[in-house]
Amino acid sequence: MSTTDSIIGTATPRIDGPLKTTGVAEYAADFHFDRMVHAVPVVSSIASGHISKLDLSAAEKMPGILLILHHCNIGPLYRTVPGDDNATNSEVRSAFEDDVVRHWGQHVAVVIAETLEQATAAAAAVKAGYEPQAANLRPSLDDYTGARKSVSKRGDPDAAFASAPVKIDQTYITPNETHNPIELHASVAVWDGDRVTLYETSQGVVNHRVVMAQVLGLPVENVRVVTRFLGSGFGGKLFPWPHTAMAAVAARQLNRPVKLSLNRRMMFSAVGYRPRTEQHIKLGAGKDGKLLALRHDYLNVTSQLDDFNEGCGEATPYLYSVANLEITSGMVHRHVGAPMYMRGPGAVPGLYALEAGMNELAEQLNIDPLQLRLINDAEKDESTNTPFSSRHLKECFEVGAKKFGWDKRTAAVGSMRRDGKILGWGLAGASWVALRLPCTANVEFCANGRLCVRCGTQDIGTGTYTVFAQVLSEKTGMPLDHIDVILGDSALPDGPMSGGSMVTGSVLNAIAAGADGAIQKLQKLAAATEGSPFQNAKVENISFTKGRIHGKDQNPDNGMHFAELLKMARLNGLSAEGKTQPSWEDPKARGVSLHSYGAQFVEVEWEPDIARLRVSRVVTVIDAGRIINPRAAANQIAGAVVMGVGMGLLEETVYDQRTGQPINGSMADYLMATCADSPAIDVTFLDYPDPAMGEYGARGVGEIGLAGVAPAITAAVYHATGVRVRELPVRIEHLLQSKIVTV
Ligand code: MOS
Repeated sequence: MSTTDSIIGTATPRIDGPLKTTGVAEYAADFHFDRMVHAVPVVSSIASGHISKLDLSAAEKMPGILLILHHCNIGPLYRTVPGDDNATNSEVRSAFEDDVVRHWGQHVAVVIAETLEQATAAAAAVKAGYEPQAANLRPSLDDYTGARKSVSKRGDPDAAFASAPVKIDQTYITPNETHNPIELHASVAVWDGDRVTLYETSQGVVNHRVVMAQVLGLPVENVRVVTRFLGSGFGGKLFPWPHTAMAAVAARQLNRPVKLSLNRRMMFSAVGYRPRTEQHIKLGAGKDGKLLALRHDYLNVTSQLDDFNEGCGEATPYLYSVANLEITSGMVHRHVGAPMYMRGPGAVPGLYALEAGMNELAEQLNIDPLQLRLINDAEKDESTNTPFSSRHLKECFEVGAKKFGWDKRTAAVGSMRRDGKILGWGLAGASWVALRLPCTANVEFCANGRLCVRCGTQDIGTGTYTVFAQVLSEKTGMPLDHIDVILGDSALPDGPMSGGSMVTGSVLNAIAAGADGAIQKLQKLAAATEGSPFQNAKVENISFTKGRIHGKDQNPDNGMHFAELLKMARLNGLSAEGKTQPSWEDPKARGVSLHSYGAQFVEVEWEPDIARLRVSRVVTVIDAGRIINPRAAANQIAGAVVMGVGMGLLEETVYDQRTGQPINGSMADYLMATCADSPAIDVTFLDYPDPAMGEYGARGVGEIGLAGVAPAITAAVYHATGVRVRELPVRIEHLLQSKIVTV
């Protein structure tokens, strides 16, 4: 609990919790309409080639079949304008654009029938013929000879590396990982004349609307996108995928509502993944541990048509102080689907490589890895030569070390034991970018005594509904159960995408401004309303406290409730819009380096006799500015840490080299961390408001909880087993190389 009675910083249960636990909350595929029909995609069984024929004769004769769409009859669909930040699409190519197959699982047709069962059966009866071509599915990217883009550079890293007394020169690999939100991708398309409403599972309803308007060739005002609740997304639902357009076209042609839900197997090939990265790290240091040189050269895989850069160099330029640095990137095209941002894109795999390298450097130097971080802490952002808005990375390490008991660590491999198991302890730093995105929120006082905030953003399951209600409650003094939060509809004032952990830090400012504006209108109304006790009073002498309008010197309890005033003025409600100024237009935020920080401490238990490894304990300390709701925030970080266990030990999408099919493309075969894999997790927030973020100083949380977990795990694994794993995930095969064969 906070020390004041403010609801900001108070652990607050989800206001939407009852809707979810009672099944009232409607997710995309829960929407049902009269005469609604069902669409099921047909997917390619090759990774590269041409569609030579589509034999629909059997499918067309099956019961309930209404329509089969494919590249010959989909009609005009358009691409989105390249580089338009307000219309970001997932794939360059539009649905069924040509007869070329570029990855296994690409949609080649979609079958629409009266029932889901009929559509599923008919989709299976569509016979696609192909002229296959050689597919490049090589997992390793080491054949790449193409261009490398310089991402960041200072000093002369190669000369400094050559002359450095202590060096690390290693390559670190992260695999393709698949987003596995519980809620499947789904679209329900409903036309009314030339207007379409799309019930979607979208992390950005406003962007989704603009994209679909461009793709369908409609004026933007003719498209509406609704996402009231999401069963998470992890980045996979940031931008539209082709199945949305397929549902929309089918619904238009049939003049009936169409529901299209992907199945879990399709989720592994048609809606993005975190792409494999190969990252070459060179670190040079003096014998005192001071960094002299840093090179970070990375490659990531991408599809045939999409130039997707996994941004691994995001945190590298500013995390540590080093005079000589260069980061380069390159993309390697394979016959796989388009990659997509996945929780902590860029920085999370990038920090895996950088922090793994730092841990190896610490060993070379014979310096404690914690000390190495403190020695190289940065005073300013050396990549932009700007001050940090608010950075407490050192304190994250120091607080975490104390909570974890780091001073009891003995450095020698296999030297720590407990209950017949070998313990390994490792740590790593974390960071994530912060930005304030432009947005608008509408705050309304209603004559029924309730308050309402409306914004065209969405709650992806992180607690957005609750955090927004907290801010409006703080601003107006009204209790949470008098506040309605309306989100997830592109018809609402423009809100940001639920991406980059940026919604909280962005929208709070607009809500606060909207509340201030609405209160000012109430004060003016009090002075202007006939019969009001404040009629003709000076507005500056009228105050507002806890829902009541009162004279500046009057006891607020004797004031007039706003609902009374609205009724007296014959108004149903009164509202005001508030806007958030983007951080890049704010002089206070433009000239500073805006990031969150964290430290991860990991304990693993190793049982060499049976080759069993478990992450047993994680201490995580996060510096993410002011924490609005410690309960929702801790929940985000704990969830991200569990995902980090998956990244470190379990997750990898593996493709059949002959066909390009993901061979572990199901929840049974693709390993994710479950409750049984979850360690004891201790989450601490430092809670320093960031002055560059605006009214509350919140930077937002979520993704940063994943940063640093995997390198802390691999460091702990090395400490326990003596095996340095530089390719995630850590596998039993790696651990069998351990020289420690018994406790
Ligand atoms: Mo997150 S990858 O910004 O949805």
